[in-house]
Amino acid sequence: MSSLRGRILVTGAAGGLGGAISHALAGQANPLILSARRAEQLDGLAADLAAEVIACDLEDRAQVSALVDAAGPVDILVLNAALPASGPLLEYDVDQVDRALEVNLRAPTVLARQFAEGMVERRRGHIVFISSLSGKAAAAGTALYSATKFGLRGLSLSLRADLEETGVGVSVICPGFVSDAGMFADTEAKLPRGLSTVTPSDVADATVSAIENNRAEIDVAPLALRLSAGFAQLAPQLAQAATKKAGGRRLSSHMADRQRDKR
Ligand SMILES: NC(=O)c1ccc[n+]([C@@H]2O[C@H](COP(=O)([O-])OP(=O)(O)OC[C@H]3O[C@@H](n4cnc5c(N)ncnc54)[C@H](OP(=O)(O)O)[C@@H]3O)[C@@H](O)[C@H]2O)c1
Repeated sequence: MSSLRGRILVTGAAGGLGGAISHALAGQANPLILSARRAEQLDGLAADLAAEVIACDLEDRAQVSALVDAAGPVDILVLNAALPASGPLLEYDVDQVDRALEVNLRAPTVLARQFAEGMVERRRGHIVFISSLSGKAAAAGTALYSATKFGLRGLSLSLRADLEETGVGVSVICPGFVSDAGMFADTEAKLPRGLSTVTPSDVADATVSAIENNRAEIDVAPLALRLSAGFAQLAPQLAQAATKKAGGRRLSSHMADRQRDKR
């Protein structure tokens, strides 16, 4: 791992990917700070990793500011927390739209901005945004989620360019479907034929590698999915037709049903 060590903050640490990322970074951390809404969900992980816990509801702007103050200077910031924000946009009321934008896009933007200031002053640090392949390819039933994940990619890539000369690195991780734990695995959805998953530890390894090698962007998915995300960027209309034919609508509507209580 890189020489970059120090104070590490992981948001969404109670989730499927957040736990794996926290384990992977724990050795470099002094201290490791874990955050999520429900602090009690983090107690076991915090005990295992000798980590500190700061509870924060990222939907609440005052709590986002309080997290910045409570965490103090941070050397590695992993912005991982998110809501699934799944289902057609027209099923969302305006409060639900606002919640998805606050948690998935506004909060990581503000946290990156606030923590980056100290990193730039110290001329060291790294920010990792956890986006998704849904930040590259937009399918039916993922409008809000894709809006936030495309947004995070744009933010990450541009911020990286802004901070190029400052000693601060910025990376974006784009996982595909993740098995075993996390918001996709929790839905128990079956993928259409030909598609397969990666594991939380693949995402954690990519996060470590992004920091170590200061990578701009890492897609974490089997080759077929990475190729189809690339194709979707070149030819979105054709890609959407292919996704529909492959059963994409069935998959997104199954996931939206299972994730409805998280809107
Ligand atoms: N799993 C996948 O297949 C997959 C694929 C691509 C990308 N991703 C991305 O990977 C990241 C982690 O996803 P995951 O699968 O680990 O999801 P997850 O298991 O649902 O975990 C989400 C985490 O975010 C936290 N969170 C949710 N709402 C919050 C709020 N209002 N304030 C603060 N924290 C909040 C949750 O903790 P509390 O509920 O306690 O707050 C939890 O720790 C997300 O950015 C997701 O979009 C996941």
